[in-house]
Amino acid sequence: MNVFEKAVELNQFLLSAREKGKSVGFVPTMGALHNGHSSLINKAKHENEVVVASIFVNPTQFNNPDDLKKYPRTIEADKELLQKNGCDVLFFPSIDEIYPQKDTTVFDLGGLDTLMEGKFRPGHFNGVAMVVKRLFEIVQPNNAYFGEKDFQQLAIIRYMVKSENLPVNIIGCPTLRETSGLAMSSRNTRLTEQEKAEAAAIYKALIEAKANTKTATPQKVKKIFEESIRQNPVFKFEYFEIVDSEALLPVEEWNSKRKAVGCVALWIRDVRLIDNIVF
Ligand code: PAF
Repeated sequence: MNVFEKAVELNQFLLSAREKGKSVGFVPTMGALHNGHSSLINKAKHENEVVVASIFVNPTQFNNPDDLKKYPRTIEADKELLQKNGCDVLFFPSIDEIYPQKDTTVFDLGGLDTLMEGKFRPGHFNGVAMVVKRLFEIVQPNNAYFGEKDFQQLAIIRYMVKSENLPVNIIGCPTLRETSGLAMSSRNTRLTEQEKAEAAAIYKALIEAKANTKTATPQKVKKIFEESIRQNPVFKFEYFEIVDSEALLPVEEWNSKRKAVGCVALWIRDVRLIDNIVF
């Protein structure tokens, strides 16, 4: 696997691949890689001739400096995982490489950034849009792969790519789960084994919510879900919203023509977790 820290070096390498007509698949990450990332790399490998992964803990998407400081960094293990999965190139830039000057771009994200994560993490999605656009400019991939665990992020990236007219296909990939049902996440490394076992209750409650959609209104499904999470003292509940899978607007009544998704955010101690289920 080739490792580049500089955009010019990466460009040079990719230029010769592109000249040979090879397609480039890109998996942007913030490191602390797990099997969920392996599945993105594998899908990219399947669909492209060259696979590039990036590891960059993007400061502009952290509204909480403590969260940024505590974000897990495991570069040696990450390199091993990428290598094992046949990734061709790792782009591992410094902050100055990505942001040579202070970036003050304010994206119009069509209001998709105001709900859910947007309410609790102001500025987060502007930072995500900023770094993803910058990474796309550097890598110029044909296809880019993102996990559906970050459902709102995926919708916002699709929106940004369309509104900025960027020539890249965005491919959403299913959430990978532990056998307990806990969604794989880099943040899980900060949980104790006991907390991980407790966190399995999140997916159980999501499954129960999905079952309840057969008989209950969205408001009732929401209420039952909230009660089941709030009664568990391990969790500090933040939100559970049932939204339209594209517009991300709250669903008032079920509509067989439009997919709804239940999205949750909560804390276990000082670790913030999100998850979702498509109804
Ligand atoms: O989902 C992530 O890991 C990050 O938000 C992303 C898309 C790599 C941007 O920093």
